[in-house]
Amino acid sequence: MRYGSDLSFVFSSPTRLVFGAGQVSEAGMEAERIGITRALLVSDRVLAERTDLVGRVSKALGSRLAATFVDVPPDSGVDAVMAGYAAAREAGADGVVSVGGGSVIDTAKGIAILVREGGHLRDFEGFQLLTRRAASHVVVPTTAGTGSEVTYVAVIKDHQAKRKLLFGDYNILPDVAILDPEMTLALPGPLTAATGMDALSHALEAMHSLQREPVADALALHAIRIVREALPACVSTPGDVAARGRQLLASTMAGAAFSNAQVGLVHAMSHTAGAHFGVHHGLANSICMPHVVRFNAEECGEVYREVATAFGVPADGDDAAVADRLAGALEAFARSLGLPTRLADVKVPRDALPALAEATLFDGSLVYNAKPVSDAAGILPVWEAAWGA
Ligand SMILES: [Fe+2]
Repeated sequence: MRYGSDLSFVFSSPTRLVFGAGQVSEAGMEAERIGITRALLVSDRVLAERTDLVGRVSKALGSRLAATFVDVPPDSGVDAVMAGYAAAREAGADGVVSVGGGSVIDTAKGIAILVREGGHLRDFEGFQLLTRRAASHVVVPTTAGTGSEVTYVAVIKDHQAKRKLLFGDYNILPDVAILDPEMTLALPGPLTAATGMDALSHALEAMHSLQREPVADALALHAIRIVREALPACVSTPGDVAARGRQLLASTMAGAAFSNAQVGLVHAMSHTAGAHFGVHHGLANSICMPHVVRFNAEECGEVYREVATAFGVPADGDDAAVADRLAGALEAFARSLGLPTRLADVKVPRDALPALAEATLFDGSLVYNAKPVSDAAGILPVWEAAWGA
């Protein structure tokens, strides 16, 4: 991989990773190590009522568990953060332990801000506004895709204002991530596949970002190699702890990669499809990836050769041929996991595509896409291709 003589970058991924089957038992020790004496455990009702995952973390926290808050809805919002903060205050909590997927982790990041700063969540919307670390935070992911355990971003919906609030601050990076594959075994097949594709899209997007750099590339390429091999095994054999562990590591590595290198057009489209039609984030990424690869082809010749090789796809021929082969392989991979491959299959109406192309321009991820996008007309064909036209 070649980089120009003008290469300069900052790479930061300070979250401590504790990996291994059964390592959730270390949650109490890890909380103690970072000074949490009274923890608020944050999770959701499905995990609390239908699995033993919340119980396992509670047990590991022992006397450090001050209270449990499980009212985080799937598409979490400001209200959930404020309710969680109220629970933390009432319990005298000095730190947060989150157990769940992206929505739970992001909600816990919001609560951690308020435990430190007080006030209302809306006061902290924006980038790098905090002047000190949020309250200490241990994350125990129960999905393997979002990478939120190692990112400095939280996306929290403001249902009142009907928009998503973005919090981007190095001070909300979790202190510890306990990556225990046993904690992801309960994730059903279709969600395993869709969230797993989110991880793959983070790795791909870190690679075709204008802000790509060698450290993020190394993490992204290894994540791509692992997802290709581990995700099908997780879907076909949900109880395969070793495969679950590899996928969880790939998700975290891809998370660290994109937290530094950023994401691009795939996420800009996915955020838009999610906001307008509620398409699942990982699924939308999975559907859009092949078409963005074809769109970016001329800017990403060398990059896509690296990605293709990591994904087990022959990298010979001209740039367009490599990108097209890679795109085809990504689509075939999604299909092999049982995922739909067209936006038409997930209830996006064809006549909405021009408005979606227009709305994509307002997504911040677009800034980093390898091929510049300046108008809606330029990306309408990508939307149409992803729709299945
Ligand atoms: Fe994502």
